[in-house]
Amino acid sequence: MDYAYVNVFENTSQVKIPKDPLQQIIGQQNAVNLASIVAKQRRNLLLVGPPGTGKSLLAQAIACHLAKPTQEISVLHNPENPERPAIEIRTTQQITNEQKKAQQVQGKNVKPENVPFFVSERLGFRCRKCGSNSKPNVNACPKCGSDKFATSKSPFGDLLAPYLEDPRRSDRVHTTRQNETTGVEEVIVYERDGVDSIRILDQKSLEQIDAIKKKRPRKVIVPLKRKTFVAITGSSETELLGDVRHDPYGGHSQIGTPPYMRVVAGAIHEAHEGVLFVDEISSLQHLQRYLLTAMQERKFAIAGKNPQSSGAIVRVDDVPCDFILVAASNINDLNHILPPLHSRIIGNGYEVLLDTWMPDNAENRDKLVQFTTQEIIRDGKIPHATYKAVEALIEEAKRRCQLTEDVQGLTLRLRELSGIIRMAGDIAVGKSAEFIEEEFVKQAIQRGRTIEEQLSDKYGSVWKAGLSEATLGHDKKPSQKEVS
Ligand SMILES: Nc1ncnc2c1ncn2[C@@H]1O[C@H](COP(=O)(O)OP(=O)(O)OP(=O)(O)O)[C@@H](O)[C@H]1O
Ligand SMILES: [Mg+2]
Repeated sequence: MDYAYVNVFENTSQVKIPKDPLQQIIGQQNAVNLASIVAKQRRNLLLVGPPGTGKSLLAQAIACHLAKPTQEISVLHNPENPERPAIEIRTTQQITNEQKKAQQVQGKNVKPENVPFFVSERLGFRCRKCGSNSKPNVNACPKCGSDKFATSKSPFGDLLAPYLEDPRRSDRVHTTRQNETTGVEEVIVYERDGVDSIRILDQKSLEQIDAIKKKRPRKVIVPLKRKTFVAITGSSETELLGDVRHDPYGGHSQIGTPPYMRVVAGAIHEAHEGVLFVDEISSLQHLQRYLLTAMQERKFAIAGKNPQSSGAIVRVDDVPCDFILVAASNINDLNHILPPLHSRIIGNGYEVLLDTWMPDNAENRDKLVQFTTQEIIRDGKIPHATYKAVEALIEEAKRRCQLTEDVQGLTLRLRELSGIIRMAGDIAVGKSAEFIEEEFVKQAIQRGRTIEEQLSDKYGSVWKAGLSEATLGHDKKPSQKEVS
């Protein structure tokens, strides 16, 4: 056989596979080219094709090509109208600035030697007898051996000690000092920080801490660190659009959960700046209309969906949802896609019909070698395959192409082929073989035949099998016994 790997590999452990997830998709050159444009230009994409041809794979690969999200979305408590929490968008820049500020507010750390004696004594560092510093959790001074905190001894001290909080060692010391420049007396706090450091908070940091605490309470509903790929499965309205959870206490100010805390983002919001993958888009039915609105507006309100719930009166407007829509459909369901949604996708994107086969040539056989290697590595539990085993697999790809497509070529219904690789791998594992051998692939092909193939083997054709079942089940003449 004349394909490029022919003399190059003995088994698939020697085959190199591309790192880029888009390059790992074989055969679908047209779709792959479009996918890279879609990722670069943030367009939409409709993938049409039969199961197992790489639709989900393409959507994931697009997501891998996107930049990291730069916006975090939070809902804020609205004191004037708690049922209408506000939305806040913070950029990466703002978040890092705030983190820096918070770090500054954390005060200055110093060694116990560098604070006044009375402070290091009260925080438990300094021995009151000899003046040396040691760890605050050590009671006996390592230098002079005496009780580090001993001041005056009470005769009942030992008896009472376990029941009393240690009055001689505190976590924080509040005091005052004179500001060096203004001469004004100001508050200063020394705080024990670990076993060998003291944090100093001056008036300014204390005021900043106060200001941060007074800030409006928030809940982050779409965090900065998130995946750029969100897939929606099924057709649940709350999954797609978000919800406001129920609170049995109706958001009561003391025992209830305030409305902003109960807001949950939908898939359209979680996919903000990323890919929203909708498999079987026609199964969304009436929800397609909402999807269309979300794509037009790039923002969509989150409201309580259950009218019986206390969440129903809560609504957060203008929650951003700027996503790339990658939708999949099979050919038969194309006319169930909402026409305006369909035209919206094409208006700002592409639609592509996936190939079900590729010509049988050296280059494409090479691609199947790459595919086999990828599947083995992705599975992680099966050994590599020998050259002969891959060859048997390519023959199967050819046979299947003839069977389903009725053309000479190599099938691209690769999920089925991947099933055979796994099964052959399992046989190899069962036999403790070092590699997947040709015979294991052949056994797997035999075992992995579809039910249609098994029927047509047994009855000549699926149609005849159906007929014979009907004859056995319904057209059987009643026996004498049944009649009487
Ligand atoms: N073009 C391809 N290149 C590489 N691997 C593929 C390709 N097509 C399918 N596969 C393999 O088949 C598996 C299934 O592919 P995928 O989930 O993308 O199919 P799908 O088109 O989304 O199918 P469905 O319509 O059933 O959701 C993949 O995990 C991959 O192992
Ligand atoms: Mg899929």
